[in-house]
Order: sequence, then C-alpha cells, then structure tokens
Amino acid sequence: MAHLLSVSSSLSISSGSKSYSKPLTLFSLTSSSSIICPISKSPLKKTLSLRANNASQKHRALHVNSVSVGQETKVEPGSGSHETSNGAPARKKVMVIGGDGYCGWATALHLSNKNYEVAIVDNLVRRYFDHQLGLESLTPISSIHDRIRRWKSVTDKDIQLFVGDICDFEFLSEAFTSFKPDAVVHFGEQRSAPYSMIDRSRAVYTQHNNVIGTLNVLFAIKEFGEDCHLVKLGTMGEYGTPNIDIEEGFITITHNGRTDTLPYPKQASSFYHLSKVHDSHNIAFTCKAWGIRATDLNQGVVYGVRTDETAMHEELCNRFDYDGVFGTALNRFCVQAAVGHPLTVYGKGGQTRGYLDIRDTVQCVEIAIANPAQRGEFRVFNQFTEQFSVNELASLVTKAGEKLGIEVKTISVPNPRVELEEHYYNAKHTKLVELGLKPHLLSDSLIDSLLNFTVQYKDRVDTKQIMPSVSWRKIGVKPKTIAA
Ligand SMILES: NC(=O)c1ccc[n+]([C@@H]2O[C@H](COP(=O)([O-])OP(=O)(O)OC[C@H]3O[C@@H](n4cnc5c(N)ncnc54)[C@H](O)[C@@H]3O)[C@@H](O)[C@H]2O)c1
Repeated sequence: MAHLLSVSSSLSISSGSKSYSKPLTLFSLTSSSSIICPISKSPLKKTLSLRANNASQKHRALHVNSVSVGQETKVEPGSGSHETSNGAPARKKVMVIGGDGYCGWATALHLSNKNYEVAIVDNLVRRYFDHQLGLESLTPISSIHDRIRRWKSVTDKDIQLFVGDICDFEFLSEAFTSFKPDAVVHFGEQRSAPYSMIDRSRAVYTQHNNVIGTLNVLFAIKEFGEDCHLVKLGTMGEYGTPNIDIEEGFITITHNGRTDTLPYPKQASSFYHLSKVHDSHNIAFTCKAWGIRATDLNQGVVYGVRTDETAMHEELCNRFDYDGVFGTALNRFCVQAAVGHPLTVYGKGGQTRGYLDIRDTVQCVEIAIANPAQRGEFRVFNQFTEQFSVNELASLVTKAGEKLGIEVKTISVPNPRVELEEHYYNAKHTKLVELGLKPHLLSDSLIDSLLNFTVQYKDRVDTKQIMPSVSWRKIGVKPKTIAA
C-alpha cells in the first residue's frame, strides 16, 4: 500500500520516507503566526517564522453562555463562550479534524466566526488523492496555510493548525495535549465510496484510515480529556435502504414477547460505508465502557459550496468536487448541466437519499456542540433536511437550466454500484430540528444560484472526469490507475 499512501513524503516539506501511518509533520500555527514543529523525534523539528500578520490582536468581547457541558436544556448556538467553574467566561475549544476538507473547512470557519476557539487537524491527504487521481476541485482552493492567514486578516480571528495523521497516536496526543479541546468534530476520514472500491489497497486504506483514526481519537479523549464531547461524522449510508422507516440510530423491537431498544440495523454498501459502521460500533462501545460522550451525525449527501464565511474572500473559497470519484449527486449534476454534458443518472434513477445544504452542515455541527451528549451517552442524529431520488434531482436541475437558457439532457448510464434502483425510503430527521436547526431547503432559487455558480467556473471543468470509472463488481486486488 505504501506506493499509494506514502502521503507524508509527497506532501511534507521533506520528512524522509516515513510510513503512511506516521505523521506528515506536526505544525501548530499559533496566534503569533509562527509554525512550530514540536515532535522531538522529527527531523523537521524547528521553528519557522512566518511573516507577521499585519492584523493586530484586538480584545474580543465574550458572551457568557450559562449552560455548562452535559446540561440537557436546549442551547441556542451562536456563542462559543461558556462559563468556567470560577465564573469567568471562556471560549469553548473545538478541534476540527479534517478541517481542510469540504465540510470541515466550512465548519471550522463557521465555529471560529461564532467565537469558538478552533484548531484544525488535517494531514492534507485529500489534496493528495486529487494529485493521485488527476482530479481538481471546480473552484480554485488556496493552501491551508494561506486560507488560515486570510481568515485572520479578514476577521482578526486565529485558527490553530496541526498538520498530521490521526492514525499516528503520538501526533494526535501532542495535538490534544497542546490544544485541550472541549469538543472534537471528526470529519477526518477517506470519504468516497467509489475511492474505497477502486482496488484492494484503497479498500484496505479506507478502513485502516477511518477505523484506526477514530479509535485513536477515542483513546485520546479517554487519556487526555475524558469530558471532551466527540461529534463524529457518520453517514446515512450506514443504514442502507431497508423496506421500513429509518429511525434515528435506534429502533424498539418486540421479539418473542420481549421488547428492547437496539441500534438500528446497518446495511452499508461499500467498504467506505462499512468503515463508518465499524466507527459507530467502536464509539458506542467506548461510551458504555469509558463514559465517553459522543454524537454520531449520520449525514446525508451535502450540496452547495458557499457559506457566510467562505464567501467573505476568494481565498476562503471551499472545494467543489464534480468528478466520478469524489463528486456528490446534486453538485455533479449542476456541473454537468453547466458544461452541456447530459446528467448521468445511474440505472433507473429511483435511488433515494437524504440531502442537505452545506450551510446546514455547519449549523448542525454547531447545534451538536452547543448541546453536548451526556457522559456515557451515544447519541445519533440523522443529519439531512430533505430526501430526493436521483431522477427528482435531475428534473430539478433540468428546470433550473431552462430558466438560465441551458438545454439540459439526461442519460441513464449503467450503474457502477450494487444498490437498489427503486425502493422505499423514509428516514426520520427530527432531533436536530428539535434542537433548533432552521433548514435551507432546496428551493428553485437555491438550485438556480448553485447552477449559476457552476456556470461561472465551467472553463475549469475537465469533462473526462465526469463519467463514473469505478465498478463495485470489478474491484480487484491489483493496484489500479484511474484513467484520466
Ligand atoms: N460530503 C458529503 O456529502 C458527506 C456526506 C455524508 C458524510 N460525510 C462525512 O463528512 C466527513 C467530511 O466529508 P468531506 O466531504 O468534507 O470530505 P473531504 O475529503 O473533503 O475532507 C476530509 C478531510 O479529512 C482529512 N483526513 C482524512 N484522513 C485523515 C487522517 N487520517 N488524519 C488527518 N486528516 C485526515 C483529509 O485530508 C480532508 O481534508 C467525512 O467523514 C464524510 O464521511 C460527508
């Protein structure tokens, strides 16, 4: 696997030939704008001075949030401050693992804007996958260092940065003990089902990266911050498509006259989705065994790109994937329409899933942090706002295209996945709404603006990346190069 995954040597300044489970390097971008590499064994141990940021440190007013960790009352999000034991206001510290990615970057900025003290942990492997597969985000994205510097110059808010691999426990421990988070939001996984189905080495990598990374996070919480709240991104795909309603995490069953509330059955449909199921089991177990507090956010498919924060400056722009490996349904359809490519409906197109706007991803995470799980509680929220079939999405994009004068065609392509193409789907998603989520529903105007956005960037589209190239049935043991 090393040929595929020696991320450290490809991405770091020159850390030598470390195995993939070793950290890229541990950088902490502090408020004084210096990069520190505190791993004593690392040949990179040195302090690099960056040009001092011209934004001056200003005193920030802190809102006092009187609800402390573990309290059951619903807390309105909007302030990252809470009251410490001596009554002094303190900002809640949130570690965003995977904070350079699509959901993580938007969330890190949102939480920072809401006055949480934020640290990003990321090994930048997602950027490496792009290089590996010859892919590029529709939108140009700046380096994580430039993004953070720009955020500081626009808002005068600091975000700390730890560049490294959470599969490396030594790295993670140092990041934990240095930052001391009150909450960890864990987005830091290989998150593409097709990527996990390319070949054996990517399947093994996905499960190793995701399962071991999450296990390390659980051990770090137990060892260094047992009161810390884990907010873990799972996926609605863990449930599969059962012929009964999908509940939020648990189902009450009466069997042979006895009744119990049990974890809802999982029927994952790729090695990626299975890694999420394994994560959920490990988290549930450690909540019981060690008293960890955790929220598993079973997220639906995310669409959109702009949030209030990423729209503040072009250097803060988020990534937008449209290719057959990392692109998600609605985002892909908008790009396809923008470049005049027929919309690629897989098979019959009756596949129905939960969807949400990226602005709701950041809102949901904030709500989960503001209303933490109790010690020992394993809480599951289904994080999506509406459900659509693929055919419904295609018809919405077709209508939006008509309004913009774009003729949109749809084709059915052979389904590369193994999944039901027509099925019952009714998933509950009330818990986040009860805690205050105000959804951005997919109105006509929203889809128009998303399509307009993709039209703006259509010259950057590589149409060769549009068709699906990974087959669930043809996965083999030989390392595979995805043809560009
Ligand atoms: N995007 C969606 O539609 C969607 C839907 C449901 C669930 N999710 C979940 O949300 C999370 C974030 O998804 P995304 O779309 O932002 O993915 P992404 O690939 O854009 O971001 C993931 C980030 O995690 C980092 N990362 C991966 N492994 C790491 C490791 N071992 N150590 C440190 N950093 C690591 C990557 O470099 C990347 O920046 C994932 O867990 C994903 O499964 C996403």
